[in-house]
Amino acid sequence: MKILVTGGAGFAASNFIRQTLKKYPDYKVINLDKLTYAGNLNNLKDIEGNANYKFIKGDIADKRMVDKVMRNENIDVIINYAAETHVDRSILDPDAFIRTDVIGTYNLLEAVKEFKIGKYIQISTDEVFGSIKRGKFKEDSSFKPNSPYSASKASGDLLCRSYIKTYDLPIIITHSCNFYGPYQYPEKLIPLFITNLIENKKVPLYGDGKNVREWIYVLDHCRAIDFLLHKGKLGEVYNIGSGVEKKNIEITKLILKELGLGDERIKKVKDRAGHDWRYAVDSTKLRKLGWSAEYDFDDAIRETIRWYQNNDWWWKPIKSGEYLEYYKKQYK
Ligand code: DAU
Repeated sequence: MKILVTGGAGFAASNFIRQTLKKYPDYKVINLDKLTYAGNLNNLKDIEGNANYKFIKGDIADKRMVDKVMRNENIDVIINYAAETHVDRSILDPDAFIRTDVIGTYNLLEAVKEFKIGKYIQISTDEVFGSIKRGKFKEDSSFKPNSPYSASKASGDLLCRSYIKTYDLPIIITHSCNFYGPYQYPEKLIPLFITNLIENKKVPLYGDGKNVREWIYVLDHCRAIDFLLHKGKLGEVYNIGSGVEKKNIEITKLILKELGLGDERIKKVKDRAGHDWRYAVDSTKLRKLGWSAEYDFDDAIRETIRWYQNNDWWWKPIKSGEYLEYYKKQYK
């Protein structure tokens, strides 16, 4: 099987590529990535020389580029991980979100149609449903996105839906809860807080810290995508969740405790604009099909903290800006 993974130099996708190459020695993976600030080839340093892996620098919002890859590579499956994903950035500057998450998705869907791709998996988020006080979002809950980021993902997902209904294309849409784990860009809550504390800085907790997120270990998410790649029903939508819900303050205290630090390291800051109160997804549909999350939250978060402690070669250059300078020179 030859899989095109878009955004493969990002956090979740790089974990997925590593897992796939290890699990299926006869599969080939093409990684098409624009190398934005969040795309980092260091995420895949250990598999750079793998004969079944190829990196192509390119933007899914560039239709000519997408078509060129399709013509040259004989792709069987597309997994669309490429996205602008950070809520705070979307509040400051939504432009890139519309380009990648909407236009980029549209270009890939057109390619699925034109090049008769066998399967397309859309990696998306629970944020498209908006915020929920009680209960959980089901696959058919209505979209109520509250940030330019979630609106851009919702738009991409709606395009996917329309291509299933109108053109009968082999598409699967997934909505996942929050990820954590190794190689996550240190702008998201967990890696930002761990690395700030290692650097003797404070952690900026938004509002009262009582907002709730459902957390899945990145390798469990990779397992879910692998599962859907082989067993998912075409034309269907699947929620991916762990059932583990935590308030931000609980996550913060857990990290502080693990690092032997106290609450004085918390810096209460102004709340995020339009800050969603709680996300939670009902993933019964996926579990009924045979997948379930395997990693224990307490073990996996400790493992994640240790990873950032032992791998400052990876995150220190990112935080200092050194990495971006290096890659700008190398790939411009
Ligand atoms: O639910 C899935 C989504 O999870 C993904 O679709 C998004 O791409 C991903 O960024 C994430 O969105 P969140 O906004 O939930 O993640 P973030 O790590 O930015 O924030 C998690 C919570 O922590 C949120 O309630 C805001 C809060 N927070 C975040 C940061 C970065 C803070 O209190 N302080 C911070 O500095």
